[in-house]
Amino acid sequence: MIADQQVPLIAAEPEFSAAAAAMAQRFGLAVADNEHPFVLELSAQGLQLRWREQPKTSPLLPDFVRGKQAWRRQAGGMRQEAIVRALGIAKGHRPSILDATAGLGRDAMILAHAGCEVRLLERHPAIHALLTNAIERAAQDPQTGSWMSTHIQVLPCGSLLDSKTMQSLRNQPPMAIYLDPMFPHREKSAQVKKDMQMLQNLVGADPDADNLLPAALALATHRVVVKRPVKAPVLGGQNPSNQVISKKHRFDIYNKQPY
Ligand SMILES: C[S@@+](CC[C@H](N)C(=O)[O-])C[C@H]1O[C@@H](n2cnc3c(N)ncnc32)[C@H](O)[C@@H]1O
Repeated sequence: MIADQQVPLIAAEPEFSAAAAAMAQRFGLAVADNEHPFVLELSAQGLQLRWREQPKTSPLLPDFVRGKQAWRRQAGGMRQEAIVRALGIAKGHRPSILDATAGLGRDAMILAHAGCEVRLLERHPAIHALLTNAIERAAQDPQTGSWMSTHIQVLPCGSLLDSKTMQSLRNQPPMAIYLDPMFPHREKSAQVKKDMQMLQNLVGADPDADNLLPAALALATHRVVVKRPVKAPVLGGQNPSNQVISKKHRFDIYNKQPY
């Protein structure tokens, strides 16, 4: 059944065949092509995700060096971002952060540009591969390399809901954990950005999202922040200590102790 198949990781050009096969093995993805509606392709630009059922949709190639997420463009005004305020980042308060639902790494990059060291945890093998490759490419770039290496670390594919990951994180617990699980979008599909549409179709809903909050509260030493659509119910039915509300999102803050 297609639903049980792993996303294949294949070469975009024959010259990348060996590298693509090695990468597929490293990330636990299918080495040979299959019927999956999504495919990861290794090209000279890096790893990209193609939605085969939607041929008009451009492949998704996260780029932290030159693309929309480029670090230089993010560098200004970071402290004004609602997410930055919700995490309590300020001069002299730069908590270590675990982004436990890393996705495409955009929010993590904002937090890192606000001066925090951020670890990224993602459980979907194809998204994990896409994200890791984008971060590794940025870590090799002369402009972004040293900054990436000191601020961003992608953890092995996993989840706060698996005991192996939790066990390894307990050795070095983060001060703050950031959660942004999938939320079913009601907007007409054209209004949801294309890359979010791809993510939603590949990953689906996160039906176990409510369980993330108690796990995060058990691990973080100081604070957990949950991103939600403005009108969405609170995660796990648990009321936050505080909230930061922006135009599109609400950040629910669960305080354990001040930084
Ligand atoms: C809405 S996206 C996050 C987007 C991200 N904040 C960004 O800026 O790109 C949610 C992501 O969380 C991941 N996820 C959901 N539950 C998870 C869990 N328990 N552990 C790890 N990752 C999880 C999903 O696979 C998906 O990639």
